[in-house]
Amino acid sequence: MTVSKKETATDQPSALPPGQHVGQDGHLYLGGCDAVGLAREFGTPLYVMDEEVLRSRCREYVQAVRRHYPARPGAIACYAGKAFLVMAMARLIDQEGLGLDVVSGGELQTALAAGFPPENITFHGSNKTPEEIRRGLEAGVGHFVVDNLEELALIEEMAPRRRSAPRPRILLRITPGVQAHTHDYMATGVEDSKFGFTLREGIALEAARRAAASRRVALAGFACHIGSQILEVEPARLAATRMMEFAAEVRDKTGFTASEIDLGGGMGVRYTAEDVPPTIDEYVSASADTIKAQAKRLGLPLPKLIFEMGRYLTADAGTTLYTVGGIKRIPGIRTYASVDGGMTDNPRLALYGAIYEAVLADRANRAATRVYAIAGRNCESGDMLIWRAKLPALKDGDTLAVLRTGAYNYAMASHYNRVPNPAVVFVRNGQADLVVRRETYADVIANDILPERMQAGERNEAVSGHSS
Ligand SMILES: Cc1ncc(COP(=O)(O)O)c(C=O)c1O
Repeated sequence: MTVSKKETATDQPSALPPGQHVGQDGHLYLGGCDAVGLAREFGTPLYVMDEEVLRSRCREYVQAVRRHYPARPGAIACYAGKAFLVMAMARLIDQEGLGLDVVSGGELQTALAAGFPPENITFHGSNKTPEEIRRGLEAGVGHFVVDNLEELALIEEMAPRRRSAPRPRILLRITPGVQAHTHDYMATGVEDSKFGFTLREGIALEAARRAAASRRVALAGFACHIGSQILEVEPARLAATRMMEFAAEVRDKTGFTASEIDLGGGMGVRYTAEDVPPTIDEYVSASADTIKAQAKRLGLPLPKLIFEMGRYLTADAGTTLYTVGGIKRIPGIRTYASVDGGMTDNPRLALYGAIYEAVLADRANRAATRVYAIAGRNCESGDMLIWRAKLPALKDGDTLAVLRTGAYNYAMASHYNRVPNPAVVFVRNGQADLVVRRETYADVIANDILPERMQAGERNEAVSGHSS
């Protein structure tokens, strides 16, 4: 997909995210910490996560889930770690009483190293390796979400053979054929998707028949996830209806009754004034009420309900701080302001045309009278953070705060151009704690190996042209 520059235009931020304010000194404050001071102390680019915002989102989510679904059979509020996972985050999620969904051996390792209870972990992923499955089994994760029949066979083969050992609990990932109005790359519940079993031609039904009959795994039910950054509740209702209709079909045709239904995550957030997301209460109640109504209509027992929100819990809590470098005016076209980060710490504009807003942290009290294109430092023309940021006049050395970067930024960071990954700090009540240290150049080359035969290799002086 080509992203036009027009599509990514943004306006002046309507309001600062929760936990942020402008101090008397005109600086932006995050969780009570001066953003300019944070940039000075920890360097830039810097991911700053507001711990209070993370915790209050977790609490609102857990309360919404409790409020809208009966205590029996109950509902589980999970956090989808793919949005942002480091050990401190895993610990926070456990302290707040949420479950965790992981999609890789690396996420599993992060959770276990932080002491996260394995029984509260759901292991997702569309092509888990045998090594990842072995690790999940050894750790004793609560559920595997099985994406395909090859994976089912692998889990069966690798499941412990002792009679006394509990069978691994699994959910089958279903694509319910729901079109959520989001970017194509964030839509995962449509028929044409790499994820899960399609309902077409009885494929999901056959998978359910096969899993229910397995003596090596315990099928608990079905999972779906229709997409991300969803700003309306109707797709969630439709997905819940399709999942219950599928559960009824499986019961009628195979005799297996699902005891758990996982509806995934997807709830959108307000990146700009144009985004109007539902409240978490509205989103959860739309799903939960649909499950209850459909259970009644179809004569199914109420399943245990699982949610897996990611973005909703972390997006607003995150801010990325950058230092402004070169400022380049192209007469009649636009003014580029380059920062010391870019697509290596936030690839979302390049990936989806995502829109962000920024605040000049040093002079956050000044009127936004200019429009800048905020460019990254990587060697790609598409390495942009914001195409149209309304800001006060910028100068070299300023600290720029890009807002609402808490979801799928740190998690999607790369080493393109061998750029070291930034540090992450948690801020709360004016205190800042480093939770991920900044990578060094030594880290960048830590895994490189120069084979012995190349170490003493001949040098072609004629070609290099650099010899003096
Ligand atoms: C299976 C599953 N669950 C939950 C999520 C979290 O989605 P979101 O961050 O939009 O809430 C995702 C995101 O891709 C997912 O694939």
